[in-house]
Amino acid sequence: MAVSGTSSGPEVLIELDRAAAEPLHRQLADGLRTAIRTGRLAPHTRMPSTRVLAADLGVSRRLVVDAYSQLVAEGFLLSRHGSGTRVATVEAASAPQHIESARRYYVDFLPGSPDLSSFPRAAWLRALRTGLAEIGSESLGYVEPQGLPAARIAITDYLRRTRGVQADPRHIVLCSGATQAIALLSRALKGDELPLAMEDPGFWLHRIVLRHNGVDPLAVPVDEDGLDVGALADSGARTVLSTPAHQSPTGVVLSAARRTALVEWARAGHLVIEDDYDAEYRYDRAPVGALQGLAPDRVIYLGSTSKTLAPGLRIGWMVLPPALVGAIRLSKGLADTGSSVMDQIAFTRLLTSGGYDRHLRQMRRRYLSRRNALLAALGRHLPQATVLGAAAGVHLTARFPDGYPIADLVRRAAAMRVNVEPLAPCYADPATAPPGLLLGYANLTESQITAGVAALARAAP
Ligand SMILES: Cc1ncc(COP(=O)(O)O)c(C=O)c1O
Repeated sequence: MAVSGTSSGPEVLIELDRAAAEPLHRQLADGLRTAIRTGRLAPHTRMPSTRVLAADLGVSRRLVVDAYSQLVAEGFLLSRHGSGTRVATVEAASAPQHIESARRYYVDFLPGSPDLSSFPRAAWLRALRTGLAEIGSESLGYVEPQGLPAARIAITDYLRRTRGVQADPRHIVLCSGATQAIALLSRALKGDELPLAMEDPGFWLHRIVLRHNGVDPLAVPVDEDGLDVGALADSGARTVLSTPAHQSPTGVVLSAARRTALVEWARAGHLVIEDDYDAEYRYDRAPVGALQGLAPDRVIYLGSTSKTLAPGLRIGWMVLPPALVGAIRLSKGLADTGSSVMDQIAFTRLLTSGGYDRHLRQMRRRYLSRRNALLAALGRHLPQATVLGAAAGVHLTARFPDGYPIADLVRRAAAMRVNVEPLAPCYADPATAPPGLLLGYANLTESQITAGVAALARAAP
């Protein structure tokens, strides 16, 4: 991304993703078209010369000439000999929809996404090529619904090494993300494993998936030490869905005393579903190991590549207490007969080659810088916001003073093409939620973060 700041034309924020498959000239044309349609480039504005814009963006002049010609042909720009290129008067609705491939938002703080432009495409392709060459044809049939043995062994090694999980490949079931794990569990849990509780606030999608699959979760409060285990014990729940390493959404880490209490609660005949969704990212200290390592017979461990590689992959896993393997294996088999073998092959090879660890090491550094950029921008532009939780993950939660009209801020920011999500939907009763925002930072560059927070401050009621 670059901001064109020439003396001979307007400043315009253009995002060019050099790793994307989409050619740069199309990205540039899309970016300019969006800027014109959303009013960021006003009618009659004089555009920078092709030479100057090319220099600002670090691209060839030919590429800018092509993008300008395309937009002149579409009626977004006017080119007159002697007076350069200007923005035409364009009715937003008159622009054809099919040519609009740009993103809806100028800055999107959507929580939960890793840096999608950094997906290790080359390493993934290499891993798939090598893995596919090595695998026997029989593995491409309807295979074991739990997943390929090689994939389960590689995941076992990884989880033992990095999360202290007591894993056994026989007790792993691969699934399409934590979301499917929760759906399968909802269907497989028996009467004496219910009712199920979840953290309040908690991930709104999980509450919906549970209800959709016939489980209405009890709400157990969360404070600055994480899940309130005393309240859990009083609730009568037999199973709890929890995020101990980095509570979703508040970002707090379950305190040592609460960890001990939760393990004791589990050992007393209950089940914990440990959603370890973004534990790979802890920036201030070494991560706390998974709770599963302390009570493997009472904890169902969930992991996913949605924060480490890309949510679009839909690769996740469950490490199950042995007693639950049969029911979940059946549930997975009946759902889809097993996860994509092709993806398992590539992911296995990425794990065993060290490519996954390398990618994570690189991403950790990048996300820490982005998190720091977000903290600095919030401190400067929105000092009324308090950041909650530990330095971890790919999003943070900002709490605003009681009574702050957060819905107005979200709406006004959206009108400026800045997307932020309110905290309220994470609460079992959104009406009781304190004013707050969830801000994803991993999929934004530092300059987008700074520009986005400055825009939020301008939108603030
Ligand atoms: C709390 C929580 N758990 C798990 C996930 C990952 O879900 P999945 O693996 O289905 O993409 C997310 C993603 O946003 C999340 O926020």
